Amino acid sequence: QRPLGVAVLGHGTVGAEVVNIIREDALDLQERIGAPLELRGVAVRDASSDRGIPAELLTTDAEALVRRDDVDLVVELIGGIELPRTLVRAALDAGKSVVTANKALLAAYTGELAEAAESHNADLYFEAAVAGAIPVIRPLTQSLAGDRVDRVMGIVNGTTNYILSAMDESGADYETTLAEAGRLGYAEADPTADVEGFDAAAKAAILASIAFHTRVTASDVYREGMSSITAADLTSARALNCTIKLLAICERISGPDGRDRVSARVYPALVPREHPLATVAGAFNAVVVEAQAAGRLMFYGQGAGGAPTASAVMGDLVMAARNRVQGGRGPRESKYAKLEIAPMSDI
Ligand code: NDP
Ligand code: HSE
Repeated sequence: QRPLGVAVLGHGTVGAEVVNIIREDALDLQERIGAPLELRGVAVRDASSDRGIPAELLTTDAEALVRRDDVDLVVELIGGIELPRTLVRAALDAGKSVVTANKALLAAYTGELAEAAESHNADLYFEAAVAGAIPVIRPLTQSLAGDRVDRVMGIVNGTTNYILSAMDESGADYETTLAEAGRLGYAEADPTADVEGFDAAAKAAILASIAFHTRVTASDVYREGMSSITAADLTSARALNCTIKLLAICERISGPDGRDRVSARVYPALVPREHPLATVAGAFNAVVVEAQAAGRLMFYGQGAGGAPTASAVMGDLVMAARNRVQGGRGPRESKYAKLEIAPMSDI
């Protein structure tokens, strides 16, 4: 079997872990896939620093790397929106499969990218984009594809959960804990995305889209961040036997005309101490799914950080690589209906 060429775009918190696994676990991966994965290059902004990988792998020209004929699989871990959009489009349009952890990109352009993947018979996988290591995309797109999901809600941002838990448990200071979340690799390059709820809103858009077989973008999601939550707010919550969590809530609701609508919203909420979400601490995430036949399911685990996120990226990479070897593809995108977004006044 011929080797499969892999391009990794980004060698930051997540990219460095992915590159490490591809290099360290090469033999195991080859056995699981049925062909060797060969790293063709790693795109970075600064190729001059020593990153512990052969210098000839590094390039600052991500576009040229994506277009190389010997690249079959592209892993996008740069972040941002417009540059990754161009790179991912170029890869998919050339029939290359793409794995990305980029929720901001997907929340804006899933429709465009999914159509490009479909028309060029390529895979587009993004398990790592929501809740880090926790499998939530695959359960919603595959395991629950025959059920009717009514609600998906939970804690989907590790940085803000890390801050809120520390403020609640030990009275930690907001600024100090935010800086620590950055050092630990949980926060986005611009942590405003975390604390103002943009990151959770992007994840809510992705979850609502796949759970309800529709298209929801980040701008459809009602959003309030948690940067104004104070120690006094947490003390008041404690007096009510509650804590405060930044929740993402996606629901299918019936409109006044009897038609289904979608509500997706992110805000800091009072959560009773006995609720399972109240016990989710640190950078952990938890997602509760309610489906008509399955009932209530809960997914819990590490929602941010280099290694946990790399686990989800590698799972997708192995799936995409196996599809190349075995000639398959999938899962195919659901046929979707455009559901109206319910206004907050209806909630
Ligand atoms: P980092 O900021 O740590 O890494 C970004 C990488 O992209 C760096 O290696 C940087 O190069 C490279 N890069 C930036 N601009 C360019 C460019 N123009 N050309 C080539 N390379 C470029 O980000 P993370 O690893 O934390 O995140 C990557 C993606 O994964 C984001 O979409 C993020 O939202 C997502 N994600 C992150 C998680 C986390 O816990 N960190 C969890 C889940 C998803 P250089 O090293 O030279 O600066
Ligand atoms: N900044 C994100 C978080 C990374 O804190 O959850 C994981 O998506």
